[in-house]
Amino acid sequence: MNELDSEIMVGLLEKRGLQRVNDENVADLLLFNTCSIRDLAERKVMGKLGRMSREAGARQKIIGVTGCMANAKKESLFRKLPHIDFVLGTNNIHHLNEVLDEVLVSGKQSIRTDDQFTFELDYLAAKRESKIKAFVSIIRGCSKYCTYCVVPYTRGEEVSRHPDSIIEECKQLVDSGYKEITLLGQNVNSYGNDQPDWNCHFHDLLYRIDKIPGMERVRFMTSHPVDITRELMEAIRDLKSLCEFVHFPVQAGSNRILKKMHRMYTVEEYLEKVQMLREIVPGVTLGTDIIVGFPTETEEEFQQTYNILEQIEYTVGFIFAYSARKGTPALRWKDDVLEEVKQDRLQRLMHLQERINAKQQQELLGTELEVLVERQNYKDSQMMKGRARNFHKVIFPGEDSLVGTLQQVRIHSYSHQTLVGEIVKRNAA
Ligand code: 5AD
Ligand code: SF4
Repeated sequence: MNELDSEIMVGLLEKRGLQRVNDENVADLLLFNTCSIRDLAERKVMGKLGRMSREAGARQKIIGVTGCMANAKKESLFRKLPHIDFVLGTNNIHHLNEVLDEVLVSGKQSIRTDDQFTFELDYLAAKRESKIKAFVSIIRGCSKYCTYCVVPYTRGEEVSRHPDSIIEECKQLVDSGYKEITLLGQNVNSYGNDQPDWNCHFHDLLYRIDKIPGMERVRFMTSHPVDITRELMEAIRDLKSLCEFVHFPVQAGSNRILKKMHRMYTVEEYLEKVQMLREIVPGVTLGTDIIVGFPTETEEEFQQTYNILEQIEYTVGFIFAYSARKGTPALRWKDDVLEEVKQDRLQRLMHLQERINAKQQQELLGTELEVLVERQNYKDSQMMKGRARNFHKVIFPGEDSLVGTLQQVRIHSYSHQTLVGEIVKRNAA
């Protein structure tokens, strides 16, 4: 979500004649689009901004702090970092140029941090880095209130974007040659619930998007398990453009911890949904997010999380150590799992996930996968890199002219998290 917000901000700044540069030393304006999800993310930004306050060159620049830290810390950022010029929250991106004008005219610090997203953003202004894959925002904010999470406070409650506006952006992206669109929201499954008059649920939106001529691939992120519906599962089965991969975070494998997290499902209910999804969409692959070391988590409860990973065999697992966040309900419980214990649990899960991935890769040897070619592989310029519909990373020999094409690749080996193969029959660019 932050990546897309950054692309929108770059577009808004280009509209006023600014140009993006890659070297911070030559920039006149620096924007820090920040994340508050874990403490480390915040500390990195505070450290960097603190160091800059002592650099003469940096003091000549205009510095803005945007994103979740702007909402989480508000005016206190000016007290801690007196050299920053403006603070712009997640729900105020459309105010970027106005705030910049204020700073330029008055020379004074400026701040906008609305709690709720209310204005339509100029999404079409987004200046994307990729020419092939694009993020499209469909719902902003979150009303789920998991007890560990800052998002409902830093981004506000759920606000769906009008389907016509989404369709228009998707059409423009297809017309400009984009091949893959990822629909974004903290919880895409509740799309439309805040706007009953539109009569457009998430799956309805998907049916409309799939009809856009030339739409090759659609993905979406993230799904909350309580809101996933049979209709959505059927859409994944039936819609040609919709990829058979669902990021479906379980967070923990113990019912006591899930309840404390306010996830609103039990392990049994979650497994039931996974089973239903696998029955309706054969071959579907899954992704997850996991938090280890939630307050009071015992070794036994951690083991239950371990078992879930082993049982489900996700293709992608993002595993995090619990980080206590100011303003969240979980703060009332002592962060009592020792850091070493959290790190040990994290490592154990990561190793398990690696073993699971190796097993999946082994099973894919000799099969053919449809790969959207994204770019040269950084490590070896003779190889191209892309992803299969099931989200597996694939590399194969090829050249730049293949970028943006879909190729059938036969898998012959794998290395780390990446499948290695050869094009079966070249598709023309
Ligand atoms: N500590 C650790 N991980 C967190 N996440 C959200 N809040 C926290 C926190 N306080 C993780 C969840 C979520 C992902 C985006 O980040 O797993 O799904
Ligand atoms: Fe945070 Fe839970 Fe909302 Fe995800 S669903 S953004 S973890 S509150």
